[in-house]
Order: sequence, then structure tokens, then C-alpha cells
Amino acid sequence: MVIREVNAADIAGIAKVQVDTWRSAYSGIVAQKYLNGMSYKQTEDLMAGLFAEGDKFCYLAEDASGKVIGFVAGGKERTDNPTYKGELYAVYVLDQYQRSGTGRLLFLTAARRLRIMGFNSMLVWVLAASPYRRFYAKLGGKELTVSTVDIGEEKHEVVSYGWDDISSFVRDA
Ligand SMILES: CC(C)(COP(=O)(O)OP(=O)(O)OC[C@H]1O[C@@H](n2cnc3c(N)ncnc32)[C@H](O)[C@@H]1OP(=O)(O)O)[C@@H](O)C(=O)NCCC(=O)NCCS
Repeated sequence: MVIREVNAADIAGIAKVQVDTWRSAYSGIVAQKYLNGMSYKQTEDLMAGLFAEGDKFCYLAEDASGKVIGFVAGGKERTDNPTYKGELYAVYVLDQYQRSGTGRLLFLTAARRLRIMGFNSMLVWVLAASPYRRFYAKLGGKELTVSTVDIGEEKHEVVSYGWDDISSFVRDA
């Protein structure tokens, strides 16, 4: 398994990981109608716009055959939070590849890149109802605040996790 920075030719691969992982991970949490309506093409278009901007990054994980099995995206924290300067925007690993360390490696890669960008702290938002939030707790994230997001026609509670000092992750990476 290799982790490397994404280039324009990878957008289709990471969009597929995002859609497929949402469908498997958020079934029973996010409305089935919304999950069914997700499209690879629309997700690709959204992602292409995102990485055209300079203060964001994305790394992917691929298996020996070159298949994209996960990715992480991050950059500057989006709301000028006074404490947490970097943000993990998303980390996804395909269902069948989960629980073998890929998510942790992607997380460490993002933390290292945030440090290179000059950020010493970071936060992430996760669906409050998702069992996957334990991934962040295991990595030492502390629960910060609760908010809501619109997903399709529904409002969902989201919770943020924060790390005050990400330098220890850089040593681990
Ligand atoms: C969350 C996610 C990125 C983790 O990736 P992963 O490759 O499965 O994670 P790892 O194998 O590196 O797990 C590291 C540790 O996190 C914890 N963890 C991971 N997934 C967990 C889960 N579903 N429940 C409880 N703990 C979990 C475990 O302690 C795990 O270590 P262990 O397997 O030795 O017990 C992946 O499961 C995923 O894409 N989930 C669905 C989408 C999502 O919710 N993404 C995060 C929100 S943006």
C-alpha cells in the first residue's frame, strides 16, 4: 500500500471512494434517498474545484494494483477558529479495507502536512451518530463542540474533535 499526494488524474478514483464509503458507512444514518442519489460525476466536479485552491491538500492510499482504497483531505481551518488552525476535511477508507491501519496512516500524513504548512493544531467534524467517531477518540482527539449540517433534506448533528498539539503525530509519521 502506497500513500501519495493526489494529482488531477486521481480525482475520479477518490470521488468513487467518497461515494462508496458514504453509502456503506452512513446507511441507516443519512437518508437512503440521499445516498442513492449521490453521483460519482458530481462528486468529481466538487473535488476538482476544491483542490484548485492552494491552502488545501489531498493524499490517497492505493493498493499494489493502483486501486484507490482511501484518501484524506485537509488544510487551513475554515472558520478562523481561535485555537485550532488546521483542519482534516475528510478521511475515507473503503469498507472492505477498513481496520487495517490505512486510516491511521492517512491521518498521520495529513498531520505532517499541516505542520509543514505551519499549523500546530487541528480539528475535524464528524457525524455525531457515526460509530466511526471512535477512530478520532482513539487517535487522541478531544471532543469540542456540536453543530448541525444539512445533508439533503435533513439536518444532522456533527461533533468536532480537536488536537492542541500535533507535533507528536509528526514524529510518528
Ligand atoms: C474512519 C476511517 C477513516 C478509519 O479508517 P481505518 O483504515 O478503518 O482505520 P484504522 O485501521 O487505521 O484504525 C485505527 C484505530 O481506530 C479505531 N477505529 C477505527 N474504526 C473504528 C470503528 N468503526 N469503531 C471503533 N473504533 C474504530 C480503532 O481503535 C483502530 O485500531 P484497531 O483496529 O487496532 O482497534 C474509516 O473507517 C472510514 O472511512 N469510515 C467511514 C467514513 C468516516 O466516517 N470517515 C470519518 C469522518 S470524515
